[in-house]
Amino acid sequence: MAKILVTGGAGFIGSHTCLVLLDAGHELVVVDNLSNSSLASLNRVASLAGVAPASKAGPTDRLQFVEGEIRDTPCLEAIFQQAEAQGQPIDAVIHFAGLKAVGESVAEPLRYWDVNVHGTLSLLQVMANHGCHTFVFSSSATLYGYPDHVPIPETAAIQPINPYGYTKAAAERLLNDLATSAQELWRIACLRYFNPVGAHPSGQIGEDPLGIPNNLFPFVSQVAVGRRECLQVFGGDWPTPDGTCIRDYIHVMDLAEGHRAALDCLLEEPPQLLSLNLGSGRGISVLEVIQAFAEASERPIPHAIVSRRPGDAAITVADPAEALRRLGWQTQHSLQDICRDGWAWQSANPQGYASEP
Ligand code: NAD
Ligand code: WQD
Repeated sequence: MAKILVTGGAGFIGSHTCLVLLDAGHELVVVDNLSNSSLASLNRVASLAGVAPASKAGPTDRLQFVEGEIRDTPCLEAIFQQAEAQGQPIDAVIHFAGLKAVGESVAEPLRYWDVNVHGTLSLLQVMANHGCHTFVFSSSATLYGYPDHVPIPETAAIQPINPYGYTKAAAERLLNDLATSAQELWRIACLRYFNPVGAHPSGQIGEDPLGIPNNLFPFVSQVAVGRRECLQVFGGDWPTPDGTCIRDYIHVMDLAEGHRAALDCLLEEPPQLLSLNLGSGRGISVLEVIQAFAEASERPIPHAIVSRRPGDAAITVADPAEALRRLGWQTQHSLQDICRDGWAWQSANPQGYASEP
C-alpha cells in the first residue's frame, strides 16, 4: 500500500485511475482545481470503491480531496507537510493535471506552457523538497506528430506539431534531465497515451467534456443520446482502406490498469526512467467507430463527411510491445467493450455530471 498524490484526479482518466488504485488498496490525496471536472466524479469513485465520499473525507480516509492548483507551490507544500505530520508521507505522485485541447493550445500558448510545463516543474520542485522521487506522468502520442511509420515505437522521433504537443515534449525533456541528474533517486514513468475512450462498465463515471466535444468518441456518444444532431467526419479521402483516419483507441480502464502497473514497477524496481506507449496496437477508422457505437447504442449516428481537419495524421497506432515487456501490461478491451461502456455512461448521464452539485 502506498500513499499517492494524484493531480487532476477528478478528470476523465484520473477518476478511473483513482478507482483502480483504491481497489488495489492504495491511499489517495487528489489535488484538482476543478477547471475541467467536478467533484461528483470523485464522489462516485468513492461510492464504487466503498470508501468515504471525497467531499466529506477527513485526514484518515483513503480518498482525500484538495481543491487546489498545481502552480500554487504553498498549496502543494501544505499537502506534503500534512501527510508527513500524519506519519504517512506521500510515496508517489501521478500527474494528470493539465490542459489537453490542441486547438486551444494554438490560441493560448502561454496558458498551456504555464499549466503543463511550469505546473509540472513546480510539482517536481516540491516533490524534491520532500524527498519524494516516484512520478508517473501523463504524456501523449501527440509527441510523435506525423509519424514516419506505424505502428509507432517509443524510439520514433519526437516531433510535435502543435503547442500542446510541445508542452508534453518539454515536460518529458525535463523529466529526462532530472533523472539524469540523480539516477540513484528518481523513479519516473512517462506514459504516452494514444486515444483514451470509453468509461467504467458501471456507467457511473465517464468522460464529461465542457461544451462542444473536440474528440470523436464524446461527440459520437452525444449524437447517439440526442444532444447533437450530426457528426462531421473530417475527411473521407485519407490513404486508408475506407478513406477515414485510423487511430488506436484505448479503453480508459485499460489505461487506468496501465498506471497501476507502472506505479508497481517503479516502486519495486531500482530507480529508472521509463517512456512507454499505452495503446492497443490496433487501428480503427472513424467509420468503424460510428458503426460499432451505433450497434452498442442501438441508435443511428447521423454523420456527414466534410473536409479534413488541419493537423490530423492519417494513421496513428501504437507499438505497445515495450509496455508488455516492462510492465506485463496490455489492453484487454475490444472496440465493442469501449462502445458498450461508453454508452452505459452516456445513456445514464445524458448531461454528464451536470445534474450533481
Ligand atoms: P481532464 O481535463 O478530464 O483531466 C485533467 C484534470 O486536471 C481536470 O480534472 C482538471 O480540472 C485538472 N486541472 C487542469 N489544470 C489544473 C491545474 N492547473 N491545477 C490543478 N488541476 C488542474 O483530462 P484527461 O483526459 O483526464 O487527461 C489527463 C491527462 O492526460 C492530461 O495531462 C492530458 O494532457 C493527458 N492526455 C490525455 C489524453 C486524452 O485524449 N484524454 C491523451 C493523452 C494524454
Ligand atoms: C480522432 C479521429 C479526427 C472529431 C487527440 C489529440 C491527441 C490526444 C488524443 C491528448 C480523427 C476524427 C474527430 C469529429 C471526426 N490527446 N474526428 N469528427 O485527434 O486522434 O487525438 O486526442 O493528448 O493529442 O490530438 O483524437 O478524437 O479528436 O480524433 O471525424 O468531430 O476522429 O479527424 O481522425 P486525435 P480525436
